[in-house]
Amino acid sequence: MENLRTSDSNIITRDYFDSLLIEMRHIDSIIPSTTLELYGERFDTPIMMAALSHLNKVRENGMVEMAKGAFLANAVNWAGMGEEEELEEITSTGAKIIKIIKPYADNQIIFKKIEHAKKCGVLAVGIDVDHAFSGNGKYDNVLGHPMTSKSLDEIKEFVKSTNLPFIIKGVLSEQDTIKCLEAGVRGIVVSHHHGIMNYAVPPLRILPKIASIVNKHIPIFVDCGVVSGMDVFKALALGASAVSAGRIIMDPLSREGANGVKETIVKMTEELAGVMARTCSPDINHIDSSVIWNRD
Ligand SMILES: Cc1cc2nc3c(=O)[nH]c(=O)nc-3n(C[C@H](O)[C@H](O)[C@H](O)COP(=O)(O)O)c2cc1C
Repeated sequence: MENLRTSDSNIITRDYFDSLLIEMRHIDSIIPSTTLELYGERFDTPIMMAALSHLNKVRENGMVEMAKGAFLANAVNWAGMGEEEELEEITSTGAKIIKIIKPYADNQIIFKKIEHAKKCGVLAVGIDVDHAFSGNGKYDNVLGHPMTSKSLDEIKEFVKSTNLPFIIKGVLSEQDTIKCLEAGVRGIVVSHHHGIMNYAVPPLRILPKIASIVNKHIPIFVDCGVVSGMDVFKALALGASAVSAGRIIMDPLSREGANGVKETIVKMTEELAGVMARTCSPDINHIDSSVIWNRD
């Protein structure tokens, strides 16, 4: 029988977050700025709403409510799988949206969705390449739609097809990072898609290696298991440009809709600022990774 305690990537990821300790640096520290500059826009926080989908199960109009909450917090809102009408409703909230398209087997669907997202005025667009396979070594089928893996050449075609920043979500290796840079993508999401495979390396554990390859050429986003401003701080210190939060938003979204989402982002951003102030980190681009210690 499978031992969930040791194989579940979400538990391993939580353990890794908790194994990282922070030293304090008070002298010369100032009130920090949490401003994020991304693709020509300014946001009040590097905490973004993750590429979620099907939130009607959580609350009526859940996807739109989440976007409204992100708008109220002046935060980036990602959007996952969904119909064109839904994306139109989400973008009409005024929130800046990053649309993530599934790795549909039929690339024409992908090109069409990129074009539609562009018409909706999204900030950026991308693909979650980690959703190509199911756990049995076959291609996945998501709600009746067949998926396939994408080659470097195909990713180059997606990048070339639009003047929007194109992002690859689901990077968890140096190899894929190098391929993404070669393809000309304008952002990557270091993620294991909330545990799509057991024993996936925690995003923060591999992040410094990925950051060193990327060398600040493109933004690096991180998600999976972020539940506090402290988690966000650790991700930023280890090389993330910004961080997405997904499942932590479900409860506030279901209880209070947009306002619950906004309050959660604001609270986590305040926690982040609290740690930045105590580590002499004046802004999100100047967090010294040497404040991080490993517990053991
Ligand atoms: C309900 C739900 C729906 C999701 N739908 C998508 C999706 O359509 N596309 C995608 O790239 N990721 C999707 N994800 C994955 C999230 O974007 C994110 O990678 C993952 O949840 C890890 O973040 P978290 O631990 O903060 O939840 C979904 C996650 C959840 C919980």
